[in-house]
Amino acid sequence: MLILGIESSCDETGVALVQSDGGSVPRLLSHALHSQIEMHQAYGGVVPELASRDHIQRVLPLTQAVLDEAAVALTDVDVVAYTRGPGLAGALLVGAGVACALGMGLNKPVLGVHHLEGHLLSPFLSADPPEFPFVALLVSGGHTQLMQVDGVGRYQILGETIDDAAGEAFDKSAKLMGLGYPGGPALSRMAQGGDPQAFKLPRPLLHSGNLDFSFAGLKTAVLTQSKKLGDALEMRKADLAASTEAAIVDVLVKKSLAALRQTGMRRLVVAGGVGANRLLREQLNAACKKAGVRVHYPELHLCTDNGAMIAMAAALRLQADVERPNSDYAFDVKPRWSLHA
Ligand code: KG4
Ligand code: ZN
Repeated sequence: MLILGIESSCDETGVALVQSDGGSVPRLLSHALHSQIEMHQAYGGVVPELASRDHIQRVLPLTQAVLDEAAVALTDVDVVAYTRGPGLAGALLVGAGVACALGMGLNKPVLGVHHLEGHLLSPFLSADPPEFPFVALLVSGGHTQLMQVDGVGRYQILGETIDDAAGEAFDKSAKLMGLGYPGGPALSRMAQGGDPQAFKLPRPLLHSGNLDFSFAGLKTAVLTQSKKLGDALEMRKADLAASTEAAIVDVLVKKSLAALRQTGMRRLVVAGGVGANRLLREQLNAACKKAGVRVHYPELHLCTDNGAMIAMAAALRLQADVERPNSDYAFDVKPRWSLHA
């Protein structure tokens, strides 16, 4: 079965083709991506209307590119999958509209996919795919969750952020330091020359006894430090960035290990944009090695949004028979949508 996947929930247009034989792990045939980062950079963040308009221009050429790369015809596609939510409504509507129009034109069914399930299952695109069950640390721009994953579609929340997401903490702290958008990679780059112990920043809820997170206080602490430093901030930026990154990573690592202890699981899967963070990977690798836990990541270039994870999530859902594709092309999107409900 050949599945075309379309992602357009935020500032990346992604399209991919995945082949499923019904049994083994589905295979990625091709994928193409256009990032809008450059376009939004001038505004310091994503401008939803510009995002939607750009998705409209990119999605069909990218579709043609993945068909060409895989040397298949559009008529060979069996199911058209698209991100149904969560995300920006206008941006989601572009992918959903195009997917349903293609499905209707080809007389093939469509499948709306949860964006976070795409991230969650993205390590299945790697050379070393995980096996169920596992604990998942989902760390994206909008979400920070620990989940117990027993199989495709069997997700149980263990803990989540009560305010900002980890990616948001990176983005907002970077903005306060004048490091630009997207903040995660920018702050991480700046941190490389800095001392992670230079500033004592809070590790909220570290000892809360549960698996929830809170990052809003960290952002306030970074703001307070920046103000205190005044003109000296420029000189101490690397130290402040390193201290911020260390605080976020410290909490993510300790809570992930606590989730593994609580569930008794020996496998951790990390997914979402923040999963690309070098320090997080280093520290998780070290902690998991010590605890005798295997840790799986998506490939670096598939940590942030892409079409491959949407096609893969659709393929795995169809293979596991937790969902059937539909031919009701009266699509809708879900800008807010929880994965576990
Ligand atoms: O998963 P994603 O692409 O989009 C959402 O679904 O939200 O995640 C984007 C987030 C942004 O907050 C970005 O700053 C962060 O992931 N990010 C990183 C890194 N690369 C992306 N954060 C820390 N270190 C990175 N290397
Ligand atoms: Zn995402």
